[in-house]
Amino acid sequence: KSSLPDVRERTLIAVKPDGVQRRLVGQIIHRFEQRGFKLVGLKMVQVSEDLLSQHYRELRAKPFYPSLHHYMTSGPVVVMVWEGPNVVQTSRKMVGHTNPTEAQAGTVRGDFSVHVSRNVVHASDSLEGAQREIQLWFQGKDLLNWECCNQGNMM
Ligand code: TYD
Ligand code: MG
Repeated sequence: KSSLPDVRERTLIAVKPDGVQRRLVGQIIHRFEQRGFKLVGLKMVQVSEDLLSQHYRELRAKPFYPSLHHYMTSGPVVVMVWEGPNVVQTSRKMVGHTNPTEAQAGTVRGDFSVHVSRNVVHASDSLEGAQREIQLWFQGKDLLNWECCNQGNMM
């Protein structure tokens, strides 16, 4: 079995409040399912100030942080953990450039947003970032290992 790819890589994806309010949750989940990634955790959260400042700890000093805080706490977010080969890098590509002006059509941001302050979705940007964010948002018991058919690209 050593030829099987490492499918244990995981990343954190969140539909931000604008995405929830615009009824985009299903379409975003669909893209990750369609690609073949495995959903191992999912919940809806009204984000606290403390959680947000930990999540965006590298951005706390940025001039846009107050408006980012207002945006991210303006309604519930849907936060998910997805698993599969190279899921961190691939999901960044699927989500698209931070600034929707630069995001290619076919990406979530390129298809559903026009401004960086309402860019619909979050995706972890590195393996280490993903591990940190998953631990921040989820308890281990709420991440479920489940197996499936092993057909096609279904890992
Ligand atoms: P960042 O981590 O740089 O981007 P990404 O979400 O692609 O990882 O920034 C986090 C969020 O902060 C970004 O999704 C939207 C918001 N943001 C702004 O509102 N203005 C900005 O100029 C930047 C860089 C980010
Ligand atoms: Mg980021």
